[in-house]
Amino acid sequence: MSETIGVYEVEDRKFPPRPEFAANANVADRAMYDEAEADYAAFWAGQARELVSWSTDFHTTLEWELPYAKWFVGGELNITANCLDRHVEAGRGDKVAYHWEGEPGDTRSVTYAELLTEVCKFANVLKAQGLEKGDRVAIYMPMILELPIAMLACARIGVAHSVVFGGFSADAIADRCDDASARMIITADGGYRKGAAAPLKPTVDAALESGAASVETVIVANRCDLDPDMVDGRDLWWHDVMAEASADCPAEPMDAEQLLYILYTSGTTAKPKGIMHTTGGYLTQVAFTHKYVFDIKPETDIYWCAADIGWVTGHSYIVYGPLSNGVTSVMYEGTPDTPAQDRLWDIVERYGVTQLYTAPTAIRMFMKWGSQEPAKHDLSSIRVLGTVGEPINPEAWMWYHEHIGGGQTPIVDTWWQTETGSNMITPLPGVTTTKPGSACHPIPGVFAELVDDDGNPVASGGGYLTITHPWPSMLRGIWGDDERYKETYWSRFEGRYFAGDGAKLDDDGYLWLLGRVDDVMNVSGHRISTTEVESALVDHSAVAEAAVVGANDEMTGQAIIGYVILRGGNEPGHELGDQIREHVGVKLGKIARPKTVVIVPDLPKTRSGKIMRRLLRDVADGRQLGDTTTLADPGVVAEIADRAAVAGDDEG
Ligand code: PRX
Repeated sequence: MSETIGVYEVEDRKFPPRPEFAANANVADRAMYDEAEADYAAFWAGQARELVSWSTDFHTTLEWELPYAKWFVGGELNITANCLDRHVEAGRGDKVAYHWEGEPGDTRSVTYAELLTEVCKFANVLKAQGLEKGDRVAIYMPMILELPIAMLACARIGVAHSVVFGGFSADAIADRCDDASARMIITADGGYRKGAAAPLKPTVDAALESGAASVETVIVANRCDLDPDMVDGRDLWWHDVMAEASADCPAEPMDAEQLLYILYTSGTTAKPKGIMHTTGGYLTQVAFTHKYVFDIKPETDIYWCAADIGWVTGHSYIVYGPLSNGVTSVMYEGTPDTPAQDRLWDIVERYGVTQLYTAPTAIRMFMKWGSQEPAKHDLSSIRVLGTVGEPINPEAWMWYHEHIGGGQTPIVDTWWQTETGSNMITPLPGVTTTKPGSACHPIPGVFAELVDDDGNPVASGGGYLTITHPWPSMLRGIWGDDERYKETYWSRFEGRYFAGDGAKLDDDGYLWLLGRVDDVMNVSGHRISTTEVESALVDHSAVAEAAVVGANDEMTGQAIIGYVILRGGNEPGHELGDQIREHVGVKLGKIARPKTVVIVPDLPKTRSGKIMRRLLRDVADGRQLGDTTTLADPGVVAEIADRAAVAGDDEG
């Protein structure tokens, strides 16, 4: 028996925690939920004192002046002292922090003590380059150990890092450096992807040619011996500056609200938003969720978050959460099918991975590759499986459960955002009875509610997802744009944080996330704004006007479809369509390149001139067209549908 909710067939399959798992779980009853329900601020204060080491205790748990929160006011801490020094001081310095594996198969394991030394040295390098508390530094790196070292070195001295995903373009780097007035870029010559060295440094050079005037210094780690151009007086080799650096850099206490990082994410306009996270509240909720959602046992676990540090998942669940909890992590540089489609399972087996955290898109890809790949390996070490980034269809959930989890392992489907900093809605593996495809319930201390168009709470059925109380790891604003912060998150529904997602509540009180309700697409778990892609399309000299929609896609969740009108004098054709696609790749980065560009004579518009995206989405999804009577020219839609069918065939 199932009914349809949005994209889902609602499940009636239920998976209660297995008694063997619950017996040893970090949390196995509802006491924490009850405690948080009674007094959420007191609950978080307790967690902050238990999980975080403070140099000065806080005097006030929360100052909340909607929409601005300050958590743990008066408290002082150094986040790297929490991630590194305290483990070393407690005699755990020889414990491995990261088992790192490069795509070509080279490996490097670094202990907590070694990581601390590297971080102190690089913090001294930053100081020697004149960087001071409050400055911003951009980081554009592959998944190598120098990346967390660079981030932690910044954090140690109160410099905010702004990590730019390694797949982004020169323009994207320049825009982010300009917005944050970054004084330095830390990069590498390149990184290994799909069996070859992919250069990064030339992209940084291009960014610095077109913008990023605030950048004074570029530090370059040598990963691939690519021998990049080095600009005299601006570019320095990582190994040169580190050779002379002292390892003496005591952790300086920072205010709980010291800016820790800026991470840019797509919104509904063309300009990405610089999401700001601070220190004490962020660390508290990241450490809390990491420990309880993944049931971390630092003494014995080998934890692996297979995300990229360029996204928030990597910030919170590769760097700050796992290090703060003192667990051993695996970190992998490359792609999952190099040299073969069992690469991930080979890594799981060799290191004895106990927790694996990945995205539905990846799971669907593994499904396509076939269950014989994981079957080649012993995956019985895995205790908890996690997923993040987009709704997981029940079929993918079940495949993950059966073929990776051996039909035993609990799955935590974690809903959260760059803005929320850490997990918000997710099962706790020893407590929650899960349903395939549902993120289940808010964690203790987080309160979510669905509301209708008028902001009235809905008790069951569909609505907009809102968060009703501040939470410790919430964003503290958008860098340099207070108005946008208020407008985007706090104006749609009074007194509530509006997440931008739609969701449904079933009769058992389970939440089912349905995807974005704004002009943001979710492609393979990556947020991409329709407007950003539209701007890149019209930037091409042959394009007069463009409209972009996210169409349903079996593999990637959504796929980007761009409809373009050509400027006079340009002949429509495949070659031009491909050039236009590539242009978006160059402007924004490959992940934002449309799957299909449809060249159309006109776009469906309302009489007031607004593009009717709903119709374009219908066309892209191959659905029956909806009501077209508000169109300026109803004939346009039929023509678009014809062309989309042809372009779709060619994609084939
Ligand atoms: O639409 C939701 C989707 O990803 C968006 C947040 O994207 P980003 O800031 O890039 O962070 C991704 C990693 C935390 C959300 O607004 N999303 C994230 N997790 C889930 C999800 N949708 C459904 N289920 C999830 N578990």
